[in-house]
Amino acid sequence: MTPRPPAVRVLADAAAAVPLLLDEVRGLAQREPGALLGFATGGTYTQFLRALAAELPADRLLATHLDEYLGFGPDRRGGMVHELGQSCPPVLDMLRRGRFLPVPRVGDAATLRAHEERLQRAGGVALQLLGIGRNGHIAFNEPGTPFDSEFHVTTLAETTRADARARFAPEEPPLQAVTSGLATILRARRLVLCAFGKPKAEAVRAMLTGDLSPACPASLVRRHADVLVLLDHDAASLLMLGQASA
Ligand code: GLP
Repeated sequence: MTPRPPAVRVLADAAAAVPLLLDEVRGLAQREPGALLGFATGGTYTQFLRALAAELPADRLLATHLDEYLGFGPDRRGGMVHELGQSCPPVLDMLRRGRFLPVPRVGDAATLRAHEERLQRAGGVALQLLGIGRNGHIAFNEPGTPFDSEFHVTTLAETTRADARARFAPEEPPLQAVTSGLATILRARRLVLCAFGKPKAEAVRAMLTGDLSPACPASLVRRHADVLVLLDHDAASLLMLGQASA
């Protein structure tokens, strides 16, 4: 059976995605109390996370996230949990109460397997939010990552490190990260991927209309049966009109 193609919505701007994302989270908490919400990090989600801070249904959801720099604990500046907590402080409260399952900071096989199992015991990720890198990565699955990958340690691509440089200045960005794998991401029951701005346009084109290939890890979302892609006009600018107006 061929999965139906991702639903694509082109919005006026990134701010227009915020109410849609809040509705996704509210709907999940209502439909499936106790379900596991998978956050994405990165500038794409900052506005949403700030808005969510006022209403995160922390007692009705569990939460996790996609990836973490190797060696970075939740308190360390530049790290993903730290970033989530800065934009959405209730996440830190969930962490303290064991309702937020952080990606391990270490990458040994037993720890990563235990994390995968913990996500499964929590019912598996019900809704996974995703961003996309300029090079077509999702989470930190860089081009060439096999589609059957699970949590693993990855070496960051140069474009990824370049994009992360500002958040670590004056230090250099890390070289490695622990990331959710492509197979792990595909197991989530619903995917919502956001991309805004011109620098994402080529990756978005490759994801939706290029080859389904590890050369563009994000193209894998086309194998999932329930995907929503939210774009602004700049990110959608290399798509043919018909494809960008679902
Ligand atoms: C980072 C994260 C991804 C994120 C992407 C885009 O490398 N690992 O999960 O989606 O880059 O980031 P931004 O939203 O800042 O463009």
